[in-house]
Amino acid sequence: MSDLRLPKAGTIEIAPSILDADFAKLADEIAQVESAGVNMVHLDVMDGHFVPNITIGPPVIAKLRKCSGLVFDSHLMISEPAKYAERFVEAGADHITFHIEAAERSDKLIDRLHELGVTAGICLNPETEVEAIEKIAPLCDMVLVMTVRPGFGGQKFMPEAAKKVARIREIVGPDIRIEVDGGIDPQTTPIVVSYGADTLVVGKAIFSKSDRIAAIKAIRQAAR
Ligand code: DX5
Ligand code: ZN
Repeated sequence: MSDLRLPKAGTIEIAPSILDADFAKLADEIAQVESAGVNMVHLDVMDGHFVPNITIGPPVIAKLRKCSGLVFDSHLMISEPAKYAERFVEAGADHITFHIEAAERSDKLIDRLHELGVTAGICLNPETEVEAIEKIAPLCDMVLVMTVRPGFGGQKFMPEAAKKVARIREIVGPDIRIEVDGGIDPQTTPIVVSYGADTLVVGKAIFSKSDRIAAIKAIRQAAR
């Protein structure tokens, strides 16, 4: 198996989401957050079917792969993730998260991703109950909890959805990462970290700021 690149659990990681970045300058935008010392970048893939928005796919990821050494945390907000997973691995994704609401056989897809040499994640929407992922979560390397409805950056954090992190932490124990996605900023960071989240997806609170390095520092401090 090729080397797995998702950082091992036990650290707080910030994964800047490129959704709010300048898509005409993506490589430069990613280089800026890389220089701030993050280890991961969160790539939001939307198909206009599972979510009402369209973003990037494997061809863009393959080009970015040539420009960045960051761990590519790929969040597939797409229907039929099993059909496309291999193409994302070939393009250079290091970690692939798919939605429980979109996959027919989540256990099979997780096995397949592991066979392909990448780490695997399951994601649940704000209205999806923890029970839906209870059996699957321990098979994953990271569980992604949506704290907004998937589809758009810059939405308001949903506190009730974030509470699911505490229950998921009980289920998976300390060795599986729990990532939160949506409305994460210096105010909401302490809340999700207190529930047991260790991986913070941050879009607007980094890319809407002119000083990305300071923005990342503010999140880091809020996570302490
Ligand atoms: C929403 C995406 C998120 C989002 C995060 O569908 O999955 O990654 O872009 O952006 P902010 O931090 O702006 O909520
Ligand atoms: Zn995302």
